[in-house]
Amino acid sequence: MTAKKNTGSELPGLETPPVGPTGRPISVFPVPEPLSGHGPARIITLCNQKGGVGKTTTAINLAASLAEYGRRVLAIDFDPQGALSAGLGVRNHDVPTIYDLMLGTMKNPSEAIVETAYPNLHIIPANIDLSAAEVHLVNEVARENILARVLAKVSDKYDVILIDCQPSLGLLTVNALTAAHGVLIPLECEFFALRGVALLVETIDKVRDRLNPALELDGILATMYDSRTLHSREVLERVVDTFGDKVFETVIGRTVKFPDASVAGAPITTFAPEHQAAEAYRQLARELISRGAAA
Ligand SMILES: Nc1ncnc2c1ncn2[C@@H]1O[C@H](COP(=O)(O)OP(=O)(O)OP(=O)(O)O)[C@@H](O)[C@H]1O
Ligand SMILES: [Mg+2]
Repeated sequence: MTAKKNTGSELPGLETPPVGPTGRPISVFPVPEPLSGHGPARIITLCNQKGGVGKTTTAINLAASLAEYGRRVLAIDFDPQGALSAGLGVRNHDVPTIYDLMLGTMKNPSEAIVETAYPNLHIIPANIDLSAAEVHLVNEVARENILARVLAKVSDKYDVILIDCQPSLGLLTVNALTAAHGVLIPLECEFFALRGVALLVETIDKVRDRLNPALELDGILATMYDSRTLHSREVLERVVDTFGDKVFETVIGRTVKFPDASVAGAPITTFAPEHQAAEAYRQLARELISRGAAA
């Protein structure tokens, strides 16, 4: 794993800097400078085969935060449930989807890209059709590289591409890992958080060995953290013991604002822009940029 750029500077002027939930001194991640040009994109896959850990919520809100900072962002809905499309308020029926591009029935990804209501944030939607993709692609030559080839055609127009995976380690997820420069793993601060993570890391290592030597683990994101419960704090401590500095300093708290925002089909950064949870995702965007994992 290669070393990353600076991880933000510690708060100035304090003898003993305050410690954040990960046990590290709280860093200040500066608001990024505007970009003078755009592309090529760094592609980040959000991946965890455990369901309901915050992959889609992170894809929506990280995408929205990066877009707020002037980054051109393309979000890829890579889950047949279509939750990313719904969460960004985008129609995913009777429209071109990522499935058409994977199958090759549509050649030009630009034709499937939809502008969201949010500046700088575009999406390629998905719907239940995608659930048939693994079966259809099983005999395809170089079937693990299909998404990479699709994204290569539009990568120059974006600064960041975020891929929201379904909760599985099947062929679609392998495609997402093969297409990516980095992988971000959301982990829910719950008792079974680390169960299955060894298998996930093994899968990432295999993809790196066999298909995508440059693939980096960008970081582990603790989600649904409740600082009031000892349980949440203990789980986070174990996650930090296991992954050390790979755990993002930014931790996403548990709040009902997220399901509320999903119902509204909007990122939390516009649904409740002043809420602490919106600021947490903006901080994640700044941390990612400070670590050199996004432009
Ligand atoms: N920090 C949070 N606090 C409270 N609820 C959250 C938080 N993050 C996500 N949720 C809620 O938890 C549920 C699961 O989140 P999400 O859909 O992002 O997970 P996922 O990993 O994408 O799930 P799946 O594996 O099914 O795709 C959603 O209802 C979402 O609104
Ligand atoms: Mg999801």
